[in-house]
Amino acid sequence: MILALETSCDDTCAAVVTSGGDVRSSSVASQGLLHARYGGVVPEVASRRHLELIDAVTADALESAGASLAEIENVAVTRGPGLIGALLVGVASAKALAAARNLPLTPVDHLHGHVVASTLAPDPIEPPYLCLVASGGHTFIARVDEPSRYAILGQTLDDAAGEAFDKGARLLGLGYPGGPEIDRLAREGDPEAFDFPRSAPGGPSAERLDLSFSGLKTSLLYRVRDLGEEETARRRADLAASYQRAIVGALGARVAGALGRERVPRMAIGGGVAANSELREHLGELCADLGVRLHAPPPSLCTDNAAMIAAAARFTEPLSYPDYLTLDASARPA
Ligand code: KG4
Ligand code: ZN
Repeated sequence: MILALETSCDDTCAAVVTSGGDVRSSSVASQGLLHARYGGVVPEVASRRHLELIDAVTADALESAGASLAEIENVAVTRGPGLIGALLVGVASAKALAAARNLPLTPVDHLHGHVVASTLAPDPIEPPYLCLVASGGHTFIARVDEPSRYAILGQTLDDAAGEAFDKGARLLGLGYPGGPEIDRLAREGDPEAFDFPRSAPGGPSAERLDLSFSGLKTSLLYRVRDLGEEETARRRADLAASYQRAIVGALGARVAGALGRERVPRMAIGGGVAANSELREHLGELCADLGVRLHAPPPSLCTDNAAMIAAAARFTEPLSYPDYLTLDASARPA
């Protein structure tokens, strides 16, 4: 059994997963409300909160799994990328848990976790597959031929898709995090009411399947300015629906391009934006049309969680005691 910890951003997460990929428990203490009043994550506040929560969340994951520390054979932890102070809490905690029992420790790349979240039971995806990862900090399409690594076919050149949702929500006067707020409000609006740009850098047949969302965000800024406060408030649902349609359209077009080129039988999605209801529906239809099987993990495995870190640990070389005592967290991708 693997005990995994994830503290790269503003969620304190622990999970117990078997080496076969059965999720025995996945506990998440969200700090969302704590940061909401600042309109975004405050790194120092996040680190302090992780420190307060990590022991309780770990105990909760073990209890929910009906497991004791004595049954854990491997401790996995997100090493990066993320907020350095936040990551350090998880890494230090994992070292203590592992070293006290002479257990191996597996350092995991957070993005690898999102890429292989869909290899977990009950419907594990098999390579080769493509994966769209769209989160608050990253957006890319990867090809997976073996679950221990992934090749990036294209990525955002500026804002991540989740960032576009969060910044758009802020312009519309909605709360943080903005993705779920826009997702909810968009259901009441007309997605064709406003025309927002869907950028595909280099054109639809560019060699790299890159994305860009900064122009879209600027376009919403100008639209909100032109409409004025009152009219923006009145048309908020239409603006949210049209803005969401543009993000989903841009992601969908790139996924369609990637599937046309790579000819794999399966597609996975991950990252917080993969919890978006319109994106899930759109990609479901798109994949069905192309005869590709879509693996969309439940939203709780799309947003940050530690079960996906355990999933990636299954395909990552562990470090044995005491080699990991000098392991450092890393803010940037490895
Ligand atoms: O993967 P994640 O939990 O954390 C990062 O690694 O960044 O992703 C968080 C992002 C936020 O930008 C949030 O607004 C977005 O995912 N998100 C959504 C939805 N739920 C979360 N975006 C659109 N629709 C949603 N339902
Ligand atoms: Zn993430």
